[in-house]
Amino acid sequence: MSSNAVSPVRLVVLISGNGSNLQAIIDNIANHNLPAQIVAVISNKADAYGLERAKKAGIEQHVLSHNNFTNRQQYDLALKELIDQYQPDLIILAGFMRILSNEFVEHYSHKMMNIHPSLLPKYKGLNTHQRAIDAGDKKHGCSVHFVTPELDDGPVILQAKVKVEEDDTAETLAKRVHEQEHLIYPKAIRLFAENKIKTS
Ligand code: GRF
Repeated sequence: MSSNAVSPVRLVVLISGNGSNLQAIIDNIANHNLPAQIVAVISNKADAYGLERAKKAGIEQHVLSHNNFTNRQQYDLALKELIDQYQPDLIILAGFMRILSNEFVEHYSHKMMNIHPSLLPKYKGLNTHQRAIDAGDKKHGCSVHFVTPELDDGPVILQAKVKVEEDDTAETLAKRVHEQEHLIYPKAIRLFAENKIKTS
């Protein structure tokens, strides 16, 4: 055994839907492009397709429905307890459609990443593709950032740009942005795994 073997970074991935970013991470790990291990996938929605992807990849999965909790604090506490059972090094938000409480976010300071479909600080929140088209932007894209209490506001780790074409609709533009998301999210996680992100 080599003495300098690096142990893979332990990831917990949170999803609410399709999980194509989750799939990109699964594929990069399978192709030995990413020194990481997904130790659990957690969804707040039972019908999230990403759960199927996790199952196919043999990853432990949980549904923690927000409908079973009376307030955000309670939900976030249960989520934190579930996550921490897995002792992750990094939490990955991959289309997790929930606002997180400050306490939860601060618990994972510089240990939780999100991917957002815009060139932050532009277009925080929803409908980013249509907003970029309406503003007449020539460039649009996506950003991976650390999560801080303010929505879509934390330090940016990586961005990818795409050209906005004259005849783009929100759908055609979203498709090209998504392709870039699948490249930069695994890349950002690799930077973290290799200790190449400065956090102070
Ligand atoms: C992506 O567009 C991401 O930028 C946003 O949510 C979407 C998730 O897509 N945060 P998927 O579930 O990974 O396919």
